[in-house]
Amino acid sequence: MSDMLKTQEGRVVDLKEWEQRWDENKIGFHKPQVHEMLESKIDKVLAGRTGVRFFFPLCGKTVDMKWLADMGHSVVGVEIAEKAIRQFFVENNLTYSEEPVPAIPGAKVFRNSEKSISLYNCDLYSLTSSVVGQFGAIWDRGSLVAINPRDRQKYASLIISLMANDCRYLLSTLMYNPELYQGPPFVVPSEQVHRLFGERCNVEQLLSENVTEDRHRAWGVDYLIEQLYLMTPKIS
Ligand SMILES: C[S@@+](CC[C@H](N)C(=O)[O-])C[C@H]1O[C@@H](n2cnc3c(N)ncnc32)[C@H](O)[C@@H]1O
Repeated sequence: MSDMLKTQEGRVVDLKEWEQRWDENKIGFHKPQVHEMLESKIDKVLAGRTGVRFFFPLCGKTVDMKWLADMGHSVVGVEIAEKAIRQFFVENNLTYSEEPVPAIPGAKVFRNSEKSISLYNCDLYSLTSSVVGQFGAIWDRGSLVAINPRDRQKYASLIISLMANDCRYLLSTLMYNPELYQGPPFVVPSEQVHRLFGERCNVEQLLSENVTEDRHRAWGVDYLIEQLYLMTPKIS
């Protein structure tokens, strides 16, 4: 790892801090519209398939879930902030049920069965494929970049365990000068994506765009590049 990245390596944001961000409405990461990169590359993710099971790690209340559910796909997300999950259903005019998850102490799952959307309210790392199954697609935006840098290997192992053989994993990462902002979101360079996933997945970079907005300049960074990857499992 380069010296520059070492500035973020030890940074830890705990789950309480994330919940506090939601309580204080400090959710600048939330986009009111469907993510442009997802929309532009959706055909590559679907690859002609219908009724795909999508996984949203660290889902927040992203409207991308509703967009895909409206297209007939099913959605499973996980999010530590209960407030985000409730807001997702309310803001999208969806009714929901709420029940405990026996396999995960303290966890709840919020569901809208009509649209097939299930959002788990728990720590991402407590999910396993025996609880949620495997997925035909994963949309990872604000997720790998949001977890604590020291947990990346654990994160990659979990994501790989949730990929079905035909899974298409769309990943968005960010690049900026980590000396200027401590994160989250954290910088994830291309070499690291390859190091984390390259042994088990084919990794294709689809896009690299300068997406700097005023809210990023307010962090102190001078540029912010978003990179998009499509990964598929190497079948042995
Ligand atoms: C940067 S936000 C991105 C949300 C969403 N993907 C989006 O694009 O709008 C990260 C979200 O992950 C949640 N989160 C962070 N760590 C988590 C964990 N270990 N387990 C579950 N949720 C977590 C936070 O509460 C926050 O809503």
